Amino acid sequence: MKETKKQLSVSAIENGTVIDHIPASNLFNVIQILGLDKIDNLITFGTNLESKKLGRKAIIKLAGIYFEDDDINRIALVAPEAKLNIIKDYEVVEKSIVKVPDNIAGIAKCVNPKCITNFEDVKTKFKVVSKKNVALKCHYCEKITDQEHLVIV
Ligand code: CTP
Ligand code: ZN
Repeated sequence: MKETKKQLSVSAIENGTVIDHIPASNLFNVIQILGLDKIDNLITFGTNLESKKLGRKAIIKLAGIYFEDDDINRIALVAPEAKLNIIKDYEVVEKSIVKVPDNIAGIAKCVNPKCITNFEDVKTKFKVVSKKNVALKCHYCEKITDQEHLVIV
């Protein structure tokens, strides 16, 4: 079931954004991070599609929605290989890849159980100290949260 023009597993869209190459296991994290459950536009998605690179990938198609770079880069923690396709009149007019940002607010939990963000109503804040194997340094307690311990808020 490869996503080809001959046979799309998820219908083509006329205008909007296609987020492709999301690891299937992180589809719902992406939906949560982008707040897609709170918007009224037409959204279609497919998951457990075959992918050479990812094994199983997911794809999200958003009609009439275009993201700012800052917004889309928020998904880089859970979908570092995601590709963005901007669609106008059924054609792909722009492609980009997500980039792990230098700083992250919210999204992830701090690994340190004693961190203020884990027992008071304080939003997490991190400096990204490694982008390849993501490592986040907490602004409050300075502990490092690595990829393996990454929990999405
Ligand atoms: N797509 C869509 N609606 C359109 C055009 C494209 O939903 N009107 C989707 C395709 O299904 C695909 C993605 O947008 O998932 C990118 O389209 P395209 O560049 O044509 O596909 P590929 O070349 O396979 O993309 P890539 O190799 O860059 O991942
Ligand atoms: Zn902390």
